[in-house]
Amino acid sequence: MFEARAISGTDKPAFYRELGAQLQALLSGEGDPVANAANTSALIFQMLPDLNWAGFYFLHSEDELLLGPFQGKPACVRIAVGRGVCGTAVARGESVLVEDVHAFPGHIACDAASRSELVVPLLRDGRVFGVIDLDSPLPGRFDHDDRDGIEALAATYVASTSWDD
Ligand code: SME
Repeated sequence: MFEARAISGTDKPAFYRELGAQLQALLSGEGDPVANAANTSALIFQMLPDLNWAGFYFLHSEDELLLGPFQGKPACVRIAVGRGVCGTAVARGESVLVEDVHAFPGHIACDAASRSELVVPLLRDGRVFGVIDLDSPLPGRFDHDDRDGIEALAATYVASTSWDD
């Protein structure tokens, strides 16, 4: 049985390094994309303070994201590429950090409690195939250290998972 270990008394980069090691241990020996996404979102939701949503969207076609495994309230199922924070991250091919979702034009409110958001692309061979999306009820919850840390966790998810093609 995997049990997440509490991480305390460290700065954010050290926190994410330790969380990355725990994620690698959690996913080792399993390659299924959905199972690994489910456990990745569960670990993130358990270990990061002040989140109200953590999960995956995968590109279902070139221009549409489809909801994947997540923790939090039920969410929007389909998001067009270029729409909302998630679709913007896919269109730009880079992470999008939103300190105040009310100030982000086109933000899609799945949970009215969300005040800030971080969306990180999932990359395979340089191509975006989905995103990890984190929401917080606190404004300004995420900073560049969170962005770098979640990008590293996304890379661990991709590297630990078996892809058919
Ligand atoms: N806020 C996101 C939509 C997904 S939910 O937050 C889970 C967006 O604007 O793309």
